[in-house]
Amino acid sequence: AGTSVFNATDWRSWYIGCGYNRRSGLVCPCWRIYFRNRIAAAFPEPAPRDTMKEAVIKKAIAMRSRAHAPFSNYRVGAAVETQSGEIIGGCNVESSSYGLTCCAERVALFRAVAEGHTSFRSMAVATHNSGMPCGACRQVIWELCSDIPIHICNEQKCVKTISSKDLLPDAFDKSKLL
Ligand code: THU
Repeated sequence: AGTSVFNATDWRSWYIGCGYNRRSGLVCPCWRIYFRNRIAAAFPEPAPRDTMKEAVIKKAIAMRSRAHAPFSNYRVGAAVETQSGEIIGGCNVESSSYGLTCCAERVALFRAVAEGHTSFRSMAVATHNSGMPCGACRQVIWELCSDIPIHICNEQKCVKTISSKDLLPDAFDKSKLL
């Protein structure tokens, strides 16, 4: 961060990149292309939605290999897509004091929050039999993400997509506490 030679206040890039020259109204095409590219690099296009969908699904499936599930042997991978376009993974982590176990969905979300993310666009969850998120995770997903698509996956692919609102209809949340 802070090392880019171009920022939004670099007037030359805007001026010449948009094709203007003070004297002639025209600009050498090479300069135009050069500055256009600098503008494009400073404001990268967000990846298309289907690319991000593939990425969040792939990450959730891959995260199953990190599961720490010696008691249930039920390996769960999860991934969350942040508003800024990052994909953050999680897996279930079990404890010999069973109730202390944390589900993959919450590990992914809490990890994302700890890394500074506050807004999320989608999630994916992967298990060998395309299991659905548990009740506790549905509550946490709703509170942190509000209404987003959740891709339910098996070991290979997305099996179905459901919204977090449909996973937790008539949710209890902070709006009831005001
Ligand atoms: N588990 C998850 O990771 N997510 C869910 O939504 C359901 C359950 C984990 C917790 C535990 O490690 C194992 O699956 C069996 O319940």
